[in-house]
Amino acid sequence: MSLTNPKEEFERLQEAANFLKKKFKEAPRLGLVLGSGLSDALGKLISEKRITFEDVPHSPKPTVQGHAGEYVYGQLEDKWVLIQRGRVHYYEGYEMHEVAFPIRVMQLIGVETVIITNAAGGINENFSVGAFVLIRDHINFIPSNPLRGKNIDQLGPRFPNLLDAYSSKLRTLAKKSAKRAEIELKEGVYVALPGPMYETPAEIQAYKRLGADLVGMSTVPEVIAARHGGLNVLGISVVTNMAAGIDPGTQLTHEEVLETMKRREKEFARLIHAILHDL
Ligand code: HPA
Repeated sequence: MSLTNPKEEFERLQEAANFLKKKFKEAPRLGLVLGSGLSDALGKLISEKRITFEDVPHSPKPTVQGHAGEYVYGQLEDKWVLIQRGRVHYYEGYEMHEVAFPIRVMQLIGVETVIITNAAGGINENFSVGAFVLIRDHINFIPSNPLRGKNIDQLGPRFPNLLDAYSSKLRTLAKKSAKRAEIELKEGVYVALPGPMYETPAEIQAYKRLGADLVGMSTVPEVIAARHGGLNVLGISVVTNMAAGIDPGTQLTHEEVLETMKRREKEFARLIHAILHDL
């Protein structure tokens, strides 16, 4: 079944949100989605509580190596945050409402701002492996999205716009935070593909001509759901590899992606702390 009954889906979301809310001291206003290999980057939070996806009613469970699958609630930089460690992807065979589920749960919990992170291939030759890149906008080639089907009116409007999907205000703030922490932060357009195979060099050249700087297999469905629900979004990619054919001779493997993430984990944590401090 690919499309949901909006009333039933909303009830499932509420059940999951209520289950989580009971475990919180204070409703978090900030959400954080940690992508491939970033799950452990932030270490332990203050007053931390971990809740595995298994325990959350109706929550989809990830299947990929490097994706943990739990919610972490606690304090970072004096703010209550809800972290989604690990995500589910279109390429795993999940339906888009399942991919969007954790973001929508955050919305119902009262999260207002969400930082969505991912591993991405670098198309722009000014980027290098390990670079941190703010997502300025996206191009979506994933052949479905969480809003397809009857609208869930309690969550948002039938026809939301994606004009400032990656909040320019939040990007300005993030750039200042990064500068203060002396961390280089680039900016670019993210193209989302269904995966799970990496791209061909010819495809990457085509995406480059279309205006893409980064390529990945996640994030956009979540951003669409978040914007539908009125959440403010900040998107950050870690360039784990140069995209196919950009750097001739490099091999594209999931291990390389995870290795780069591991290598950049501490610096990434510093960047997130700097941004959270200023939010
Ligand atoms: N392509 C698609 N997705 C990715 C890549 C890539 O090169 N690197 C990390 N995620």
